[in-house]
Amino acid sequence: MIDFYLNGKRRQCADITPDTSILELLRTHLGQTGTKEGCASGDCGACTVSIGEPDASGELRYQSANACITPAYQLNGCHLVTVEGLSRGDALHPAQAAMVGCHGSQCGFCTPGIVMSLFTLHEEQRRRPAPLTQERLEAALGGNLCRCTGYRPIRDAALTMDDYPDTHPTWADDPDLATNVAELRRSAATTPELAAQGHFTAPRDLATLRELKRARPRARLVAGATDLWLETTQQLKALDDLIDVRQVAELNTIEEAEDGWWIGAAVTYSRLEPLFQAHYPAFAHLMHRFASSQIRNRGTLGGNVANASPIGDTPPVLLALDARVALDGPAGERELPLDEFFLDYKQTALEADEFIRAIFLPRPAAGQNLKVWKLSKRREDDISAVLAAFAWRLEDGAMRDVHLAFGGMAAIPRRAPHAERALEGQPPTVAAFEAAKRALRDEFQPMTDVRGGAEYRQVAAGNLLERLRLMIAASNNSTDAEVTLDAYAH
Ligand SMILES: Cc1cc2nc3c(=O)[nH]c(=O)nc-3n(C[C@H](O)[C@H](O)[C@H](O)COP(=O)(O)OP(=O)(O)OC[C@H]3O[C@@H](n4cnc5c(N)ncnc54)[C@H](O)[C@@H]3O)c2cc1C
Ligand code: FES
Ligand code: FES
Repeated sequence: MIDFYLNGKRRQCADITPDTSILELLRTHLGQTGTKEGCASGDCGACTVSIGEPDASGELRYQSANACITPAYQLNGCHLVTVEGLSRGDALHPAQAAMVGCHGSQCGFCTPGIVMSLFTLHEEQRRRPAPLTQERLEAALGGNLCRCTGYRPIRDAALTMDDYPDTHPTWADDPDLATNVAELRRSAATTPELAAQGHFTAPRDLATLRELKRARPRARLVAGATDLWLETTQQLKALDDLIDVRQVAELNTIEEAEDGWWIGAAVTYSRLEPLFQAHYPAFAHLMHRFASSQIRNRGTLGGNVANASPIGDTPPVLLALDARVALDGPAGERELPLDEFFLDYKQTALEADEFIRAIFLPRPAAGQNLKVWKLSKRREDDISAVLAAFAWRLEDGAMRDVHLAFGGMAAIPRRAPHAERALEGQPPTVAAFEAAKRALRDEFQPMTDVRGGAEYRQVAAGNLLERLRLMIAASNNSTDAEVTLDAYAH
């Protein structure tokens, strides 16, 4: 049973298969066809919906999500808002009125998703008004593609929403909605059917998760589903036995220790942004170039690491920072340095019944520098061809604690030990970097795929090392935020 609120009304849906997406639930089971399917892979934003979950103060906080790759069962105890739920009779919501007023509505596929991203932005502004900077607009709309290229009127709509009457949807009149959703959330904590395969089970605590993994070792874990769900929408694989880690309390904490932070595997990127911003601005800036808001609102660090993709963005950064990973399961806990976690292409050190509990992010060492450079064809919402993460410090003119980690250069994300040795203890001279570049060529045999050929990757990785040298030579350490080099020079 999926028990949730849809545009202010409680809905209970029975006999829904575990691999049903929110999009399928809406269009096929509930006859709500305003939400569209464009790509079914989280890329285009046509299916954007807004999911309200109670925050610590009990208020509903709305976040955008791609309905096509979000499991319908994750709606339990949530308030789902779709494009059908915005207007008040004939009076349009400001997100809709601004789109009409600015001629932003260009086709019926993208527009509902764009309107829902604008609605979510409007809700954020209502809760915490702040200037609509270019960065915020990009974050709000970067996950919505308009194939007819009509972005200017859409941006104008975002900037002028406040000029329209603040028409509230009818459901916003209900003073009990947030309490009712919170109550539903509490009561939806059903006892998981431990051994029952063919289910979508959402445990709330670590002990139950361990027990479920023992009873159903073959069940797939799901967190944000932003990788996993593509297996069903793109590869048509069955996802019929799922354990959802999103609500496991112990996987949702960020614990500060003296030497760093234990980040629960189910913590989303959106929640991590302030931590990265405060301590690792280069990592925070990478997050602006990581997928879209829709994805960052659901996707998790644990999912990115467990997915073990050679082109995942966070593993090279975590490797450069000497991160560790805490694994857990029926046999107990164990801890590994992250570079012992990735074994081969998509192979990790996880046993069948184990899961990632948390990732340890060390506190920056005194004088430590971090640079993260992501090479992708498109600036917004694109996967890396090569990602380089470099950490080092300068002591008496020599480079120390040199960590050079790459994504897109091998079957796994990994460090470049030979190139590191060429730089360790050396002043950042042309000769030292030439030696490091030669070493780099020998230690990676990159793949060729749609994102780049082997030779391109090899040359690009060497050029990123050269960029590091030039940057140090210019003593320009003020570019912490610089992260993306695009194919297009704008
Ligand atoms: C449009 C789009 C754009 C994207 N852009 C980027 C990008 O720019 N950079 C990038 O790196 N990635 C990108 N991704 C990939 C994806 O968003 C990330 O890898 C994300 O971090 C996955 O996290 P998740 O919580 O959604 O994982 P899920 O999809 O839920 O799970 C991924 C895998 O990890 C396993 N898993 C999840 N949690 C655990 C756990 N606690 N223990 C053990 N196993 C676990 C699952 O079983 C599954 O095999 C993109 C995806 C999409 C759809
Ligand atoms: S249909 Fe394209 S993101 Fe969902
Ligand atoms: S609005 Fe759909 S292609 Fe531009």
